[in-house]
Amino acid sequence: MTGDSNGRPANVLFVCLGNICRSPMAEGVFRNFAASHALIGEIDSAGTAAYHRLEPPDPRTMSTLRRHKITDYDHAARKVTREDFLTFDYLLAMDKSNLRELLHERESVIAALQRKSTSKSGAKGTRSHVDAAIGEYGEDAKVAVVRMFGDFGKAGTLNDRVGGGEVVQDPYYGGANGFEEVYQQVVRFSQNFVDYLEQNPLSSE
Ligand code: 4NP
Repeated sequence: MTGDSNGRPANVLFVCLGNICRSPMAEGVFRNFAASHALIGEIDSAGTAAYHRLEPPDPRTMSTLRRHKITDYDHAARKVTREDFLTFDYLLAMDKSNLRELLHERESVIAALQRKSTSKSGAKGTRSHVDAAIGEYGEDAKVAVVRMFGDFGKAGTLNDRVGGGEVVQDPYYGGANGFEEVYQQVVRFSQNFVDYLEQNPLSSE
């Protein structure tokens, strides 16, 4: 795939609750679709909860991907970390609850960065785990843009309102068709997100 390479590749993290159904589906689809795109860097997924830590994706996610000829995807579930806000450019949530959690965490990462930049170097005091996680990134660290993936629900545009777009419903307790619906949504959002990045590449500075 070719793309406008006048920009830095974007590192993208897909986020849901358990990291076994929706965000792995998004990651599997997006890897298949965009991994070699010049404007796409690292791709990963994580959950806001750790219930399923290190588990593989739900079998229904994997069978849906296989049915659509995506057979080389694998993942071990993990929880979002504070460092993710500094290593990824976009954190893309599946629903409004995931989004709220991420926006809340983002504020705390920004607050920790501000504390770090105003505290004198060498000052005594306890370093919080947030400070430890961001320690190596310096004062000018960029903090990820947090959006709902469904904010890229319409071709070429980003929803004006954060979280104003389409929700990817949790299919965990529903029927098998829920997984196909998730698949169809994330295919559409993936295309729209790449279109958006081509129009709005990250600055190379
Ligand atoms: P996901 O789905 O957030 O799309 O991975 C879920 C998986 C497991 C649970 C909830 C949602 N759970 O409660 O265990």
